Amino acid sequence: MSGTVRWGVLATGGIAATFTADLLAMKESGAEVVAVASRTEASAKAFAERFGIERAYGSWAELVADDTVDVVYIATPHSAHREAAGLALEAGKHVLCEKAFTINAREARELVDLARERGLFLMEAMWTYCNPLIRRMTELVRDGAIGEIRTVQADFGFAGTFGADHRLRDPALGGGALLDLGVYPVSFAQLLLGEPDRVQAEALLSPEGADLNTGILLGWDSGATALLACSIVGNLQTSASVTGTAGRIDFPQGFFYPEHFVLHRHDHEPETITTGSGPQGLSGMQYEAAEVNRAILAGEKESPLVPLEGSLAVMRTLDAVRDRIGVRYPADDRA
Ligand SMILES: NC(=O)c1ccc[n+]([C@@H]2O[C@H](COP(=O)([O-])OP(=O)(O)OC[C@H]3O[C@@H](n4cnc5c(N)ncnc54)[C@H](OP(=O)(O)O)[C@@H]3O)[C@@H](O)[C@H]2O)c1
Repeated sequence: MSGTVRWGVLATGGIAATFTADLLAMKESGAEVVAVASRTEASAKAFAERFGIERAYGSWAELVADDTVDVVYIATPHSAHREAAGLALEAGKHVLCEKAFTINAREARELVDLARERGLFLMEAMWTYCNPLIRRMTELVRDGAIGEIRTVQADFGFAGTFGADHRLRDPALGGGALLDLGVYPVSFAQLLLGEPDRVQAEALLSPEGADLNTGILLGWDSGATALLACSIVGNLQTSASVTGTAGRIDFPQGFFYPEHFVLHRHDHEPETITTGSGPQGLSGMQYEAAEVNRAILAGEKESPLVPLEGSLAVMRTLDAVRDRIGVRYPADDRA
């Protein structure tokens, strides 16, 4: 492999377009988009035309067989992540797979084992972990800026008008607020505190059995707690804060892609922290794309920013939440 990483995009929906636009804007940093695949040739062709991509395939099999592709970006609904990422890994491709990583922890474990067996790079597209301000925040916390963490609060929600046939309400596609949005507050809390020792949750479910509005309480043996919420029927603030024994850090609305945060240290004036590396016309996916390029070119099999054990631990928490609120997906019953 040269100093260029050649990407193949698998699926042509909303996030595939956003991510591809950010990737194309990074040409100088060694990322190239060489192919796209869809379940239909027409959709692949339209996407390729829109973004100036050389090859368009009407099947995933053709994309993963393409010798010019180094890494496949999986942008299907969660329910298809296991199959699509597995196909790419089996064909010897590195993989960046959208969040939620998979439908359940068992599927995530299967992908991680497969990547490790094959010696291939695998990462969950938890772009928030690659954001410079989130990285700055974790450094500050590790350096003791707010003392020992006592409480994390985070939520992510919007009031949508999703029909019963929308993927967000379809259990077969992993529908509900939790896997789409709740994964962010859970990942935020676990970035700081690791896997919780206890999980409690309450939710309002749709008639189809998807969670519409979910509250989560995580507990650690240290005494730390996390109060988290997600919703597809309410405009939550989508903010986050971390409170420690010596201060607090507040992220305003849009904590998963922040432009600044405020550090409140006991006996100090509040300090607003920015990195000067805000949106710059891109969607924020460039940081995770750059991390994948860097890791692949360095021959690494996973990213230290989004470690696979962390993604597995998040999936176990999401499974535990679903167990508490009574949400099961057809994929849970797959042998
Ligand atoms: N990182 C982020 O900020 C972010 C934001 C939004 C979504 N996401 C994640 O990205 C994934 C896709 O979300 P999206 O909003 O892009 O969804 P979307 O707009 O519905 O697009 C998903 C695409 O997957 C393919 N697809 C649809 N149904 C499928 C099925 N049953 N089996 C296999 N493929 C299917 C379709 O592409 P083809 O017709 O080409 O096959 C569809 O366009 C989800 O896992 C979501 O959580 C991440």
